[in-house]
Amino acid sequence: MKFKIPIFDIKNLNFSVKGQKVLSNISLEIFSSEYIAIIGPNGGGKTTLIRMLLGLEKPTSGEIKIFGKKLNDFKEWYKIGFVPQRASHVDSSFPATVLDIVKMGRSSQKTIFSSFGEQDRALVHDAMVKMDVLDLKDKMIGTLSGGQRQRVMIARALASKPEILILDEPNTGVDMASQKRFYALLRTLNQEEKITIVFITHDVGVIADDIARLFTINQKAIICNNPKQTLSCEEMSTLYGIDAHLLHNHKHEH
Ligand SMILES: Nc1ncnc2c1ncn2[C@@H]1O[C@H](COP(=O)(O)OP(=O)(O)O)[C@@H](O)[C@H]1O
Ligand SMILES: [Mg+2]
Repeated sequence: MKFKIPIFDIKNLNFSVKGQKVLSNISLEIFSSEYIAIIGPNGGGKTTLIRMLLGLEKPTSGEIKIFGKKLNDFKEWYKIGFVPQRASHVDSSFPATVLDIVKMGRSSQKTIFSSFGEQDRALVHDAMVKMDVLDLKDKMIGTLSGGQRQRVMIARALASKPEILILDEPNTGVDMASQKRFYALLRTLNQEEKITIVFITHDVGVIADDIARLFTINQKAIICNNPKQTLSCEEMSTLYGIDAHLLHNHKHEH
């Protein structure tokens, strides 16, 4: 692990906006094939951090390297799949089928000169199979349940064949049964496809067995290297204002 180039290498990152400090001296590394979770209170800066990793927001100071390159020199954005917060909250009359949506995942690698080819079709098909939405392909996205939409949004991200998948609180408004199925799919992506997963969530208890490390972001970052040893993490969470029993509740279910 130590000798590998991290996918993300973040050093002394600071971000202030309108005189308010949002992120303070964040340093962390995310390695290939890891499954990590990011937790933290609302407004703690989780989404802001992700936006910076994707080059959508510029840090006030600090450095971000992606696959060993400075962010400004990095061009292979298709390697990073991103599912934003509220991605699956679409209008019920949104005029696109599931297939249309997943095909959009290929567009980042398309230019006006290249058309949608055999390889694109195969990747879109594969992504739909992996997320178990193939049988929904001709349905209008707006008619699906929250859990189904969520899987479609991940399939769209997978269609670019990413090495890392970043999910920003994808579970809001999804029922418990769908969530469990969703967690199982993520575990498979990580363990069998070796896709690195960065999962921003409030529900870390149910994935505690899957994740390698836990980051708490509340302006500052605290890294917990063993999420299963919940004691230190609980203390950390209490300290940082996160509901500690989120971590505790699910502990005895396994
Ligand atoms: N571009 C921006 N302009 C104004 N405020 C911002 C901007 N980016 C982030 N913030 C502020 O940063 C804080 C952290 O927000 P956010 O990253 O969304 O937290 P989280 O995702 O952990 O809930 C909030 O107070 C938000 O208002
Ligand atoms: Mg957020």
